[in-house]
Amino acid sequence: MSTETMTRAEAAPAVLPVGRYGYDQIDRTFLRERIEQFRDQVNRRIAGDLTEEEFKPLRLMNGLYLQLHAYMLRVAVPYGTLGSKQVRALARIAREFDKGYGHFTTRQNIQFNWIKLEDTVAALEVLAEADMHAIQTSGNCIRNITSDEFAGAAKDELLDPRVHAEILRQWSTLHPEFTFLPRKFKFAISGSPHDRVVARFHDIGLIARPGPHGRPVFEVFVGGGLGRTPIVGVSLRDDLPEEDLLAYMEAILRVYNAHGRRDNIYKARIKILVQALGTDEFRRQVEEEFVAMDRARYRIEPGLVEAIKARFGAPAFAPAGEAVAVLAEDRRRDIAFDAWVRTNTHEHKAPGYISVVISLKPAGGIPGDATAEQLDLLADLADEFSFGELRVTHLQNVVLGHVRQDQLHTVWQRLSQAGLGTANVNFITDIVACPGLDYCALANARSIPIAQKLSSRFANLELQREIGDLRINISGCINACGHHHAAHLGILGVDKRGQEAFQITLGGSGEEDASIGQILGPAMAEDETVDAVSRLIDLYLVRRENGERFLDTYRRVGTAAFKDVVYAPA
Ligand code: HEM
Ligand code: SF4
Repeated sequence: MSTETMTRAEAAPAVLPVGRYGYDQIDRTFLRERIEQFRDQVNRRIAGDLTEEEFKPLRLMNGLYLQLHAYMLRVAVPYGTLGSKQVRALARIAREFDKGYGHFTTRQNIQFNWIKLEDTVAALEVLAEADMHAIQTSGNCIRNITSDEFAGAAKDELLDPRVHAEILRQWSTLHPEFTFLPRKFKFAISGSPHDRVVARFHDIGLIARPGPHGRPVFEVFVGGGLGRTPIVGVSLRDDLPEEDLLAYMEAILRVYNAHGRRDNIYKARIKILVQALGTDEFRRQVEEEFVAMDRARYRIEPGLVEAIKARFGAPAFAPAGEAVAVLAEDRRRDIAFDAWVRTNTHEHKAPGYISVVISLKPAGGIPGDATAEQLDLLADLADEFSFGELRVTHLQNVVLGHVRQDQLHTVWQRLSQAGLGTANVNFITDIVACPGLDYCALANARSIPIAQKLSSRFANLELQREIGDLRINISGCINACGHHHAAHLGILGVDKRGQEAFQITLGGSGEEDASIGQILGPAMAEDETVDAVSRLIDLYLVRRENGERFLDTYRRVGTAAFKDVVYAPA
């Protein structure tokens, strides 16, 4: 049967991947056709029939950027979930077409920084064989939909958001009305009251919870964003019923598409429109569109949710048995392991299981980078210990979602042997950084070396434990790809009379207490900035009360004392 005459049910895959939607022959045919189209475009570029300017919109449709030194390929990881076969495909791309590593980003994508134009089609073919692509990872369209890295696993989760993330993915992929929006558009979705997806800094952030009749409802945040105009998103609806999810999203996008500013790239994001109209007027316009539109076309019936859910593989959890007791005993016997368990794991909803956060932030390392060998190991560990499934976090780490507690010690040993056992998740060295001036044509300053210096300065694990939770994020320019505004301590690269310099912001948060970091004072050179961070930490350790986090001490004490310690030291 040709794929043209197949129904979705007939095309369905025999084996379902755990934690994500299983592609069928129709999806695969679509990807193959896209690759052939791109092959032709690349060939024309290489032959000189297309100028770089003409090629640009075509390559961006396929996630191919041109950076400072080379092309960069940005690959989407829908709702952050990867299968082991996919991770091996990424390793192969790193090995064969890049310099042996990939870089995980703050939006659950992975980027390859050294791709040669003539290799791009082969790289896309490797991706397609593993049901992956780079479509809609750039351009003014709806980008990769991000989600909670502990989805389907976290004990505090009310609802696994990935089925709805998949519904949104299918709705937004090649949506004809929303392919040329005024500007890019980013969704994040979570099913936990604890915001692990930075929902309030997205164009649309959705928080799902169970509603009446066993069906979810969604809180809808809109108009959040970072960049040169950081804004915390506003809540548009608190209780959007599941059946209206797509219709309401469509209504928001229509209002934005019609009224978003296309005359000024800096004012084109939805956040500017929401601010210009005011929340009430924006909501009124969305409701007006929502009431007038053919909502039946977009209604999500329970059958649709079930059909999408049926295309997800589910992990077959074994009974807990002795797993909990074994882990407790392993922790008692091995202090280093115990320290790692305390920082790098997350409580699981299934008894006897636990989620593992694998830090991609070794002391002095490049945040978010993983080598081909490490990727292969992660794929092996996913197969052996986590139902073949791996997740990517927006904090540039990776997660094994479902590890049995009695196997955790083995997992830790294997990770440690490969340099992946750093026990620093949410600590001061768990730094998020954008590529900065090492790669990015828009950068003012390098983000990576300062991240490395800070991570070396605070490498002592005892000191890190003493400091506790502290989020440092670094962006190489005001576009804020490193989410610096949303960090407890943010660092922004600026150009100070032709020199690289750094501005510190304090007090930001990307979680449910979302706030925008405030600029502490004038920018400083790299080494001065690293020293300034040390002084800020020293002050915090003196002033903190009752084990408060750095953020809480800053909020309680206020800016002045922190400013003095950097700019007017005694
Ligand atoms: C080729 C390299 C890159 C370029 C040219 C680029 C460009 C930009 C630009 C122009 C903005 C500002 C958008 C706006 O405010 O309208 C932005 C924001 C952003 N980018 Fe990048 N970026 C690059 C790499 C990255 C990387 C590596 C990450 C992840 C680490 C990333 C994630 C983000 C995020 C999270 C934002 C801010 C959130 C928001 O959209 O409000 N970008 N980027
Ligand atoms: S924040 Fe600036 S320097 Fe960093 S990746 Fe984004 S555009 Fe480039």
